[in-house]
Amino acid sequence: MVKWLGSLRNFNKPYLCKIEKIIDETPTVRTLIFSDSIMSNSRPGQFAMVWIPGINELPMSIMISTKKNQAAFTVRKHGVNSTALYNMKLGQYIGVRGPYGNNFNIKPGKLLLVGGGTGLVPLIRLLKFIKTSHNITLIIGAKTKNEVIFEDLANSLLQHNQHSIITTTMDGTYGCKGLVTHIVADLLHETTFDAIYTCGPELMMFNVIKMALSKQIFVQASIERIMKCGIGICGSCSMNENIVCKDGTVFDGSYLLENNEFGYMYRNKSGSIENYTSKV
Ligand SMILES: Cc1cc2nc3c(=O)[nH]c(=O)nc-3n(C[C@H](O)[C@H](O)[C@H](O)COP(=O)(O)OP(=O)(O)OC[C@H]3O[C@@H](n4cnc5c(N)ncnc54)[C@H](O)[C@@H]3O)c2cc1C
Ligand code: FES
Repeated sequence: MVKWLGSLRNFNKPYLCKIEKIIDETPTVRTLIFSDSIMSNSRPGQFAMVWIPGINELPMSIMISTKKNQAAFTVRKHGVNSTALYNMKLGQYIGVRGPYGNNFNIKPGKLLLVGGGTGLVPLIRLLKFIKTSHNITLIIGAKTKNEVIFEDLANSLLQHNQHSIITTTMDGTYGCKGLVTHIVADLLHETTFDAIYTCGPELMMFNVIKMALSKQIFVQASIERIMKCGIGICGSCSMNENIVCKDGTVFDGSYLLENNEFGYMYRNKSGSIENYTSKV
């Protein structure tokens, strides 16, 4: 069915989707749910380009819905474009093209998933693809208690797995206090994992990768760059010799650490280099 629909659909043209449900996840984050069997079957790590009529297009990780043939976007209001998407109303239409990019390579065994903020979206989709034999530890990072997302959803997706969910807040108002990376360091001191998957702020991912590789653990990260076309034409998402929208967004940690841009610099909207000023 999906294959048949795919043959009719041009993946590079926005497909209009009606917003059917809105979930307020936190005071600044909303999930917009729509019906689309192609997006609902996208793989963990893939993204879509989302057209907000009259405003702009934004890359968004594809969130799951608990209902069949539905998908969603979980957006944090930030600048003009994401705020416009956040403010879309029930019944309004967005244009969706994709899915684009590669996906996480899910290893068997004991997995550690490390997510910060809306970086949790591809990790939640990853949970849809795990087997009951997987043992999962999920770390959910947020700034403060009312910005913690997806804890109940993750518990319900993991009900048939041996699992543990650890929440951390920077201000200590919920769960453990401090940085996600401190929890990762503690966990890696006590136990080992067959693979680690991470998505969130770049410096968080940089440090998670360093810790994983120091213990010889396979690690992958889904990374963000400014994206305009989403399909490998404009070059705005380039990172070293890679085009992140096409070659990624998921990269092996071992590759990322050899790279002199990841964790150090990115290109802004004009294509100029910006530096990450400090390392966590
Ligand atoms: C593959 C991918 C998936 C994404 N998934 C989600 C998601 O699920 N939910 C979500 O809320 N957002 C997601 N984003 C981020 C989103 O696309 C927007 O970049 C973000 O919402 C800010 O957009 P804005 O135009 O409102 O703000 P802007 O005005 O563009 O941004 C405000 C500030 O953030 C900086 N900035 C914006 N984007 C980037 C970037 N990619 N890298 C470094 N700095 C940046 C700008 O330079 C500016 O200083 C994703 C991005 C990518 C590339
Ligand atoms: S966004 Fe245009 S090449 Fe990646």
